[in-house]
Amino acid sequence: MSQATFTPRVFSGIKPSGGLQLGNYLGAIKRWVDMQAGDYENIYCVVDMHAITVWQDPKDLANGTREVAAGMIAAGIDPAKSVLFNQSQVAAHAELGWIFNCVARLGWMNRMTQFKDKAGKNAEKASLGLYAYPSLMAADILLYHATHVPVGEDQKQHVELTRDIANKFNHDYGVDFFPITEPVIDGPATRVMNLRDGTKKMSKSGDSDMERINMTDDADTIAKKFKKARTDPAPLPETVEGLADRPEARNLVDIYAALSDTTPAEVIAQYPGAGWGTFKPALADLAVEKLAPISGEMARLMADPAEIDRTLAQGAEKARTIAEPILAQTYEIVGLLRS
Ligand code: TYM
Repeated sequence: MSQATFTPRVFSGIKPSGGLQLGNYLGAIKRWVDMQAGDYENIYCVVDMHAITVWQDPKDLANGTREVAAGMIAAGIDPAKSVLFNQSQVAAHAELGWIFNCVARLGWMNRMTQFKDKAGKNAEKASLGLYAYPSLMAADILLYHATHVPVGEDQKQHVELTRDIANKFNHDYGVDFFPITEPVIDGPATRVMNLRDGTKKMSKSGDSDMERINMTDDADTIAKKFKKARTDPAPLPETVEGLADRPEARNLVDIYAALSDTTPAEVIAQYPGAGWGTFKPALADLAVEKLAPISGEMARLMADPAEIDRTLAQGAEKARTIAEPILAQTYEIVGLLRS
C-alpha cells in the first residue's frame, strides 16, 4: 500500500514523575526547542496518564505536572509556537489507547525491554497499565498523525512499536490512515549516562541523587556531582577515537558537547589530553552557565501555578481540535457506532 502524504508534525512527551534530570533536557527538551524553528507543527505533552502506571502520590502529581511544564517553558518551549498541554486533559488519548490495545499483540508487548527493566523480578505485581504503556504512547503519537518523534535512545523501541501498530491498523482495516512515524534520535546526548556508573542511563529514579543532575540543582550541587562523577584514571585522549571503551569519560565529553552545541570531537580538540582536574571544573562551569537560567526561570514560573494551568488549558484546547477529528475518523473506520 502506498503511504499517503502526511503534513510534517512533531509530537513528544515527558512523564511528570520525580522531576526533570539532565538526560531529559539534553536528550529531549533541548532538541524540541531547536525543532520549534522548523517548518512544522510541534506538539509537546506532559504525559501524566503515563506517570500513574507506577504509584504517584496524588498530592504531588498535579504539581509535578506543572513543574515539568515550567521546565519546558523555561528551557524555551514557546506555548504560542508549540502546542503544550498535559495528556489527561485530552480524553482522546485514552480512547485511542484502548483501540490500540486491541491492535497490539501480546508477543510485541512481551518484547518491550523497558517493561522488563521497570517491572524487574516483580512483574506479577506490576500494573496492567505499565504493561500496556507503549500502546498508550502509540496513541499519543498517532492521535495527531505525528510524523516525527524526537526522543532519547531509550524510547526507540516504543516508537518502533508505534510503527508496528500503525501498520497493522492500516493493514487490518484496509486504509492508509495512520502515518509510519519516524523516531528522531540525534545529537551527542541521546543516552546520557549515570554519573556513578557509565553503563546505566541517567534517570530520575536511580537510588542515589549523586547519579544524576536535576534541573533544579544549584551551582554548588552541580559542581559537587561532576567532581565526584566516576571516571577511569586516564586523562582525556588526544583524539575522539580514544574514548572507545571508556563509558564514563565518553559520557562527560558527550554532556559537554551537548551543552555547548558542539561535537565530542570538537570537545576533545579543545581539551586534548586534559586531566580530570581541568575538565571536570570546566564541565561544571558550563553546566551551571547553561542550567542556572533555566532553573531560575522554572522557579519564577512555579510561583504562579494558575498561569501555568491557564497555559496548559489553552494548549489542551488546541490539542483537542487536532485530535478529535482523527479519533472520530478512527471510530468510523473501526465501525464503532456514534448515533
Ligand atoms: P521519559 O519521561 O522517561 O523521558 C522523557 C524524554 O527524555 C529522554 N531521556 C533521556 N535522553 C537521554 N539520556 C537520558 N538519560 C534520558 N532519560 C530520559 C527520553 O528518551 C524521552 O525522550 N515513554 C516516554 C514518554 C512518552 C512519549 C510519548 C514520548 C509518552 N508518550 C509519545 C514520545 C512520544 C517516557 O517515559 O519518557
